[in-house]
Amino acid sequence: MTVERKPVAYGDARAWIGALRKAGEIQDVDGEVDWNIELGTIARMLQGPATGPAVMFNNIKDYNKNDSRCTKVFTGALSSYRRIAMMMGLPSDTHPRELVKLGRTILTGSIPPVVVDTGPCKENIITGNDINVFDFPAPYWNRLDGGRYLMTYGGCVTKDPETGIMNVGVYRGMIHDKNHIPILMWRAQHIGHHVTAWQNGGASEVPIAVAMGVEPALEFVGGAPVPKGICEYDVAGSIRGAPMELVKCETVDLLVPATAEIVIEGMLQIDPANYLPEGPFAEFTGYLAGDPAPKPAIRVTAITHRNNPILRGTIEGAMPGSYSENTVTSSIMRAATAWNVLDRAGVPGITDVWCQPVQAGINLLIQMKQSYRNQAKQAANAIWGSSAAHVRYKHITVVDDDIDIHDYAAVDWAIAYRVNAGENDVIIMPSTFGLGLDPSVRKRDRNPTLFGTGKWNRVLIDATMNLDYDPDPDFGGARYPPTVRPTPEDETAVLARWEELGLGKRK
Ligand SMILES: Cc1cc2nc3c(=O)[nH]c(=O)nc-3n(C[C@H](O)[C@H](O)[C@H](O)COP(=O)(O)O)c2cc1C
Repeated sequence: MTVERKPVAYGDARAWIGALRKAGEIQDVDGEVDWNIELGTIARMLQGPATGPAVMFNNIKDYNKNDSRCTKVFTGALSSYRRIAMMMGLPSDTHPRELVKLGRTILTGSIPPVVVDTGPCKENIITGNDINVFDFPAPYWNRLDGGRYLMTYGGCVTKDPETGIMNVGVYRGMIHDKNHIPILMWRAQHIGHHVTAWQNGGASEVPIAVAMGVEPALEFVGGAPVPKGICEYDVAGSIRGAPMELVKCETVDLLVPATAEIVIEGMLQIDPANYLPEGPFAEFTGYLAGDPAPKPAIRVTAITHRNNPILRGTIEGAMPGSYSENTVTSSIMRAATAWNVLDRAGVPGITDVWCQPVQAGINLLIQMKQSYRNQAKQAANAIWGSSAAHVRYKHITVVDDDIDIHDYAAVDWAIAYRVNAGENDVIIMPSTFGLGLDPSVRKRDRNPTLFGTGKWNRVLIDATMNLDYDPDPDFGGARYPPTVRPTPEDETAVLARWEELGLGKRK
């Protein structure tokens, strides 16, 4: 049964932080912390397997003076399912399975934004020579990063030059100097579509604005696969149940949330002659990735911010025991997207879809009720034939509906006894498009400039019971022997005697 949502319009990042604080979801760090490696190390160590707190760094070295423009960094807000549920307007103990079901439709709602005259994000306006992005405590998150990453969870706003529709996406950006931030964007992302359209029109730069410290619903959709041509502001409005309030930028023709903590306005340099070096960065894969190379760079034309602004950032990269915001949110939306792809392709019998948060949808788990043989292959073909599979779903495991895909041991048991590689249960789909950040891919094949994409050999593990086998009269016509689990009647009879047998209360 799907739980009912009561949308919450938090209003701004501060009200969201207040709600999290009240719910005991924030860890304040009041001791002085160095922006250089130490802050990132603490953030990673606090993360946990989707169990860590959101973290507010209140005392950052070099940024804790009376005249410091920005003194705080806030991270980890969406790195737990409890907080994602709160953002969606659900009880905080909602099971991730329910979040996936909701994720299937949550991007389809629309409440268009309203434009207001002004807002708190205009309390300070910096232009010209006064612009200095080093005024903000951008962490050197990881020792092996190429530089200080100011943009880790900012909503990058661009506009389609033909339709005028805005896109808000989360893309990483590294400080080059006081007014230049090269970013990582792929042509297949919607910002990439916009860049191509501006380029086709003869432009050498693209207006861009980066809004940091905004309503959690906008952060969530900024990193989610909202379909092309649909504006993330409309979708965020629908999640929070009220329109986003937007204001005009000072130097570019774009709209940003009126209550954003910090807004960076600029022109994205798309002529390769003006590219600036960016990367590497500790990426969502949990490995250093995105080789150091010249990339499109934002030439900053204005910065506006609230009084005492809070810099929103995040530590990227999930590893066993420490999952990032990106991978926790992705585990829901990549599962929900795959489920929708299966439905649209007409694959019957899908009962659950899940991606473990440690790998953000590189491995996909599908639970189905089979009604004919080789249904798992139909599912894999549908997923891999979809553009949603570009940087996801390298490995697909399909199980029957008696296997809980949120229980790794259950999946492992199915793989152990329902997979026979000699019976076509393991299928390799070689040389498909794939993720350029995956270190298991040869370096040459990770080069998006040469090939436009990475290169993946995809694998289906069909861990369902093989309906190609003959029904066995010894098993009452079933293809598989019965499991050793006692019958419900035998269990009920024993349970009735449990306490009498001195076994205590049965949990
Ligand atoms: C914290 C975070 C960081 C991200 N960093 C990048 C990035 O540096 N480059 C990129 O192309 N996508 C990045 N993504 C993924 C994109 O935001 C995501 O694919 C999103 O759907 C892109 O927006 P679009 O749908 O408008 O193309 C990041 C996502 C999150 C949540």
